[in-house]
Amino acid sequence: MILVLDFGSQYNQLITRRIREFGVYSELHSHKLTAETIKKMNPKGIILSGGPHSVYDENSFRCDPEIFDLDIPILGICYGMQLMALNYGGKVEKSKNREYGKALIDLKNDPILFKDSPASQTVWMSHGDKVMAEPPSFQIDATSPSTPIAAMSNPEKKLYGVQFHPEVRHSEYGNNLLKQFVFDVCQSDGNWTIENFIDMEVEKIQSKVGERKVLCALSGGVDSSVVAALIHKAIGDQLTCIFVDHGLLRKNEADDVMEVFAEDFHMNIIKIDAKDRFLSKLTGVDDPEKKRKIIGNEFIYVFDDEAAKLKDIDFLAQGTLYTDVIESGTETAQTIKSHHNVGGLPEDMQFELIEPLDTLFKDEVRELGTQLGIPEHIVWRQPFPGPGLAIRILGEITEEKLAIVRESDAILREEIAAAGLDRDIWQYFTVLPNIRSVGVMGDARTYDHTIGIRAVTSIDGMTSDWARIPWDVLEKISTRIVNDVEHINRVVYDITSKPPATIEWE
Ligand code: XMP
Repeated sequence: MILVLDFGSQYNQLITRRIREFGVYSELHSHKLTAETIKKMNPKGIILSGGPHSVYDENSFRCDPEIFDLDIPILGICYGMQLMALNYGGKVEKSKNREYGKALIDLKNDPILFKDSPASQTVWMSHGDKVMAEPPSFQIDATSPSTPIAAMSNPEKKLYGVQFHPEVRHSEYGNNLLKQFVFDVCQSDGNWTIENFIDMEVEKIQSKVGERKVLCALSGGVDSSVVAALIHKAIGDQLTCIFVDHGLLRKNEADDVMEVFAEDFHMNIIKIDAKDRFLSKLTGVDDPEKKRKIIGNEFIYVFDDEAAKLKDIDFLAQGTLYTDVIESGTETAQTIKSHHNVGGLPEDMQFELIEPLDTLFKDEVRELGTQLGIPEHIVWRQPFPGPGLAIRILGEITEEKLAIVRESDAILREEIAAAGLDRDIWQYFTVLPNIRSVGVMGDARTYDHTIGIRAVTSIDGMTSDWARIPWDVLEKISTRIVNDVEHINRVVYDITSKPPATIEWE
């Protein structure tokens, strides 16, 4: 395992990601980890990440200095290199100006981290302070015109520092450098795979749960489906899933989830048909935030009611991902929308949590799902928000409007799949903006609803661009929706990126 210590750089997840891509397990942890804990974790190498602070700031992040005495190879990146320099008696110069962007470095001394890469290469810099004098026992490995010590090392102690960011693709030979550290210096063996992960986790779950019972809120989304399948593999019938159908799901979604997990996987699933309960609470409500709150709360009440009927449950399983864990550390972001996650934990429930995906990235979860035998259409399902179609109908929700969105969305999904675009587009769905306009059908005037198509490309949903769906595909979708869905006489395409818009309309 390669341990990455987090000093707050925006690129720190990428380091972990790159190393896992080499087949070496890697975890990102807080810089507060003590040397003693690290020793117990027994990593083959430690990477100190970059960070936004200056080492001279009053509250700048520090690590336990004893980690430098553990006799474990260390690579310091940017801020991490500056900490290393200070620790060994080098000099770091405080600077007000950041060096940001591409830089050309020249190698010196034939350094091992740069083996088989050119003597002059492009790297990505993003720093304010820099190391101006290397510690006495260190050598300089690379220089650039504005950063005289772009890389340094003490090969005997297996200590390495780079001022640039090898994890960023703009650093041409960055992957090579990380590989050299992970394999040549740390002697990792590179045989970590998702199959190992399944075996490891199954064992962990079995020993944690023993003979006891686990409850899981299954939504049919990728994360909760994979969690349920993994735990089921470990403990079989000791797992019970609750699937709440709030009546705001897509066409055939509830039947589909039941078919896959109850029939094919033979899981214990309690399906709750709570449509009336949700719709009656939503009657007359048109404010987006109110709708979200009502649905989020009602979900918890329904879940709570059902869970209370079950006896002897000790654990609650959640599909928390690595990105959720890391992002929850930064709670400074403004609430644009209050997100509701299926499986929200009622506060007064006394369950212990099991979160077996909390070290994985989304694409790794998909791979895990495939290995566990979950069908492709679920593993590759586009993200679907907890409040479901309720936030795709602007204004009050009615059964008629739900039917319009459901039918038009089904047509859109069929056509996107038929055009082979379903894996390229992050999310695609229809929205009912609650406006009517004049049309002509046959020879008659119509005055009916408009449907909006929203389709976006994105990496993580935080930002997005509108998808450039070919015009002939859009034409087909538009024609089918107007012909086949009652009360629609106009189709529009949303061409706004996020920001300034959001992906969902409410
Ligand atoms: P926005 O609309 O904020 O959406 O740009 C970003 C991503 O989050 C999804 N989304 C939600 N997911 N509960 C969820 O689990 C929610 O309440 C929720 N609201 C939005 C949205 O579909 C997109 O993928």
